[in-house]
Amino acid sequence: MGAPFFSRDLGDGISLGLRTLDTVAELQQLAVQNLDRLRLWEPWAQFDQSLESTRAYTEFELGRFVRGEVVPVVMYDGAVAVGSAGLKIDPSAGNAELGYWIDASSEGRGIVTRTCAALLEHASALGIRRVEIRAATENARSIRVAERLGFEREGVLRQALQVGDRRLDLALYARLL
Ligand SMILES: CC(C)(COP(=O)(O)OP(=O)(O)OC[C@H]1O[C@@H](n2cnc3c(N)ncnc32)[C@H](O)[C@@H]1OP(=O)(O)O)[C@@H](O)C(=O)NCCC(=O)NCCS
Repeated sequence: MGAPFFSRDLGDGISLGLRTLDTVAELQQLAVQNLDRLRLWEPWAQFDQSLESTRAYTEFELGRFVRGEVVPVVMYDGAVAVGSAGLKIDPSAGNAELGYWIDASSEGRGIVTRTCAALLEHASALGIRRVEIRAATENARSIRVAERLGFEREGVLRQALQVGDRRLDLALYARLL
């Protein structure tokens, strides 16, 4: 049996690769460069992003990938990492949740939407029937991604997101597969 793997060619030089230990240095650098904007919406970005913490998180995610609990991917433009996404899976319920962020300079090109579309196709192939996206009600760009992908807003989880000293309302979006 070969090593578990995931990769996709999304066209126009954009591709997805599995978030392996080879990606640690590049993703850590990308996260540090984007920390100010990531801190607006991402709880994990409240903490310093060191090589050690990025490596530990990558190892944790790879362990969960092997158990079928997450598909953690890196988005590439050519050979350059430009973002990160993940499909978190609840195998027993047949549900999953999408998360994503992208480098400021690659925003607005549809890379995240295409990444999520590929992960949705993969989710469907795995037998997952429901995928959620949770985005702060103020996070217009993330909400546009969900709506562009045909997710429906199911409600608002009041003050469910703690980012720094703010508690934000989270919009719950879902798509049935
Ligand atoms: C949220 C986030 C990932 C969205 O990234 P994005 O670049 O806006 O999303 P996409 O890659 O799908 O790009 C969409 C834009 O590309 C355009 N586009 C161009 N080609 C496209 C294509 N082939 N397919 C879809 N959209 C395309 C769309 O019209 C849209 O334009 P707009 O910005 O004027 O609305 C990004 O803003 C981000 O990293 N934010 C910080 C972290 C964060 O908030 N993460 C989510 C937490 S819930």
